[in-house]
Amino acid sequence: MRSLIRKGIEELVPYPPGKPIEELERELGVRSPIKLASNENPLGPSPMAVRAIREKLDSLNRYPDGSGYYLKEKLSGKFGVPAAQIILGNGSNEIIELIIRTFLSPGDNVVQAFPTFLVYEKIVKGAGGTMTSVPLVGFRPDLEAMFRAITPSTKIIFLNNPNNPTGALLSQKEVGSFLKSVPRDIIVALDEAYIEFVRDKNAADGVQLLSDNPMLVALRTFSKLYGLAGLRIGYGFSSPKIVDYMNRVRQPFNANLLAQAAATAALDDHEFVQKTLALVHEGLEYLYKALEAMGLEYVPTQTNFFLIRIPGGGKPLYERLLRQGVIVRAMDSFGLPEYIRISVGLPEENRRFIEALGRVLGGF
Ligand SMILES: Cc1ncc(COP(=O)(O)O)c(C=O)c1O
Repeated sequence: MRSLIRKGIEELVPYPPGKPIEELERELGVRSPIKLASNENPLGPSPMAVRAIREKLDSLNRYPDGSGYYLKEKLSGKFGVPAAQIILGNGSNEIIELIIRTFLSPGDNVVQAFPTFLVYEKIVKGAGGTMTSVPLVGFRPDLEAMFRAITPSTKIIFLNNPNNPTGALLSQKEVGSFLKSVPRDIIVALDEAYIEFVRDKNAADGVQLLSDNPMLVALRTFSKLYGLAGLRIGYGFSSPKIVDYMNRVRQPFNANLLAQAAATAALDDHEFVQKTLALVHEGLEYLYKALEAMGLEYVPTQTNFFLIRIPGGGKPLYERLLRQGVIVRAMDSFGLPEYIRISVGLPEENRRFIEALGRVLGGF
C-alpha cells in the first residue's frame, strides 16, 4: 500500500502559536485580555506603513512586482548591500523554508542550538532532513559544540542571534570565528529577527559578515520592530549565487503587493522605530525591577522578550495567568518547563502582567 504522507510528517506536531486574544475572550469569557506571548510590537503597525497600504488598496487587482524592485532598492540603500544579494519572503519564516527547500535533500542533516525558534526543526523534518540540536550553555548557543556536531551529511546550520526564547546574544567576534571554522560547503542561516532591539555594541551583524562569508544567509523581518507581523514580510541577505538559487525555488509573487508597499514605507518611519525602541527598553527596566522586588529570577535579554523562572512550573502559571486575562508563553515545548517567556508590552500591559503575576503567585 502506498504511504499517504511523506516520511517524517506523522511525528510532526503543529507549531504552537501564542494564544490569540479573541480565543481567550471566547473560551474563558475574559474581558480585554492582553497578549504578551508572540514578541509583537505593542504600539501597533508603523503609521507610515498603514498609510502606504491605504494608498495601494485600489491596485489589488494587480499581481505584485515579482522582483520586489522598490523594496529591494530601499533595503540596498539602507544596508549597502546590492539588490542581487537580497531576497524577500512572506515573513522571514518563508525564507527559512526557502533555504531548506533549496539546499536540503532528504536524509541531509541540519545543526541548531536548542532551545531556539521551533520553526527550523519543523521545516527540516517536514523536508525529510534530520536535526541535531546542540544544548545551549548558560542560555547561549555553544558554538564549539555546534562545530563538533557537524558531520559529512550536515548541509545547513541555523543560528538565531539574539536567540529566541532566551534573548542571549553572540558577538561579532564569536560569530565571525565560527563562520571561519565551518566547512565552506555548509550554509549558515543567521536569523536576526530581533537584531534591531540589541543594545550591546559588540553584537554580531550579519550584514558586516557577508563579504567574507558567501555561504552566510542573514535573515531579518518587518514583523517585530516595524509592527507588521500580520502582513508577512521578511528579507534575507546572502551572496548573489545563493540568492539566485533561492529565487529559482521561490514562488514568483511570494511577497504580496501591500506588504512590499508597507515595508518600503516603514523603512522611513524613524519616529516609530525610536518610539518602539524606547518603549521596549523602558519596559524592560520596569519589568526587571518589579520581578526583582518579587524575588523572581529572569534571564536578561537583548530583545523585546525574556524568560522568567517559575519554580512551580511555567505551564500551570501560564494557565492561571490566562484566567487573569494575561497571555504569556509557557516554555515546555521549548524544553524549559520551569520558565515562561513574556514580550514587553505597553506600560499599562506590563503593569497588568506584574499585578496578575503577584495575585497568581500569592499576593505581593
Ligand atoms: C527567531 C525568529 N525568527 C523568525 C521569526 C519569524 O518572523 P516572520 O514573522 O518574519 O516570519 C520569528 C517570529 O517569532 C522568530 O522568533
